[in-house]
Amino acid sequence: MFGLFFKAEVYSDFINRSPDVLELKEQEQRAINFLRSRYQRPLQYSPDLTEKEGSKIHLGKKLFFDPRLSNHNKISCSSCHNPQKGWGDDLPRGVGFSDETLLRRTPSLWNVGWGKRFFWDGRATALEGQVVGPLFSKKEMNAVPFETFMDRLKFKAPEYENLFEKAFRTKQAFTLRNLTLAIAEFEKTIVSDRTVFDEFIEGNDQALTLQQKRGFLLFNSSRTQCSSCHSTWRFTEDAFHDTGILADNRSPDFGRGGFYRDSKWNFHFKVSSLRDVSSRKFFMHDGSFSTLEAVIDFYNRGGDVDRSKERNVASQIRPLGLSEEEKEFLKYFLQTL
Ligand code: HEC
Ligand code: HEC
Repeated sequence: MFGLFFKAEVYSDFINRSPDVLELKEQEQRAINFLRSRYQRPLQYSPDLTEKEGSKIHLGKKLFFDPRLSNHNKISCSSCHNPQKGWGDDLPRGVGFSDETLLRRTPSLWNVGWGKRFFWDGRATALEGQVVGPLFSKKEMNAVPFETFMDRLKFKAPEYENLFEKAFRTKQAFTLRNLTLAIAEFEKTIVSDRTVFDEFIEGNDQALTLQQKRGFLLFNSSRTQCSSCHSTWRFTEDAFHDTGILADNRSPDFGRGGFYRDSKWNFHFKVSSLRDVSSRKFFMHDGSFSTLEAVIDFYNRGGDVDRSKERNVASQIRPLGLSEEEKEFLKYFLQTL
């Protein structure tokens, strides 16, 4: 893996160069051309989407935005995953059924159709299976009791029966399983827009400024190793790491370790996608940072925990020694996604 990083030499004199040098060195340009193939957007619109528009997606969309799915008719999926807020809620942590603050930040749903593991601890492996989590969680939509959920929905929203039959082209289609399939089908249409970064990756050298290109090179360098975790066009492959975020002493969130009940995985959280990252108001699973600068500073100081204290922090997390200028380049680059 590390062989793929560009040698630190590329940067050694780059740090000392005056900021008014207007172009990249030949070596840097070659590095960029090489990196392009790793960040190509997939050609298909969305992964295994059976129909691009169509009645199943239409049904899933209606369900996603419908508060009648919740016990008290007040919360829909979109209350927390709001398209106007980048499919998140702009809060440090989600707020659920009885205005109670949840343990973790609501993740954006951009490109979730390509996801391999869902939730910060990866406890769901399929989008279809994930839906029942928030629906029946007492702290989220609290659509209990589970057994009578579909009957209650039919009573509250009789128009659905017909829509289910149309979408699934059979009678008796009004089932919980089909509800989850339709919502998942809609979620697969939540695809982040093409940005100047994609234009740049597809070959237009002018699409990014010099500073953004330098940020891109730094992101892929052996100095920062950002791309060892944030890889591919989504900037994640849904792996889990401990990045050294301070845990709450009184009630620590063990992340993947809590799910596996294996301390080796304690404090490991899913690598966040960085698409559209600059529009977020809070960052990390616990919403502990509120600016991109603060996140970059966090990485630059090598995380916040004492490694000797039973933490299994990833080896890439160590003081990076970035200059103020380099931190800005990273930020400018992240803003292109
Ligand atoms: C009360 C706020 C709230 C509501 C309502 C809600 N979610 Fe979420 N959602 C969250 C939070 C918080 C997480 C992260 C939880 C965790 O990782 O433990 C999450 C995680 C997810 C994920 C995983 C994303 C990823 O990248 O891992 C998906 C998909 C999702 N929600 C879809 C839905 C759907 C579909 C509904 C409606 C049935 C819904 N959510 C309702 C707050 C909410
Ligand atoms: C060892 C793997 C790893 C490395 C290296 C790494 N990250 Fe991360 N990154 C993660 C994980 C895991 C998270 C989520 C952490 C959490 O919430 O607990 C994350 C979260 C983030 C976030 C917050 C996104 C959000 O929506 O909350 C940003 C921004 C980010 N990383 C940028 C970077 C940059 C820039 C670098 C290089 C300086 C970098 N990362 C290096 C694994 C890594």
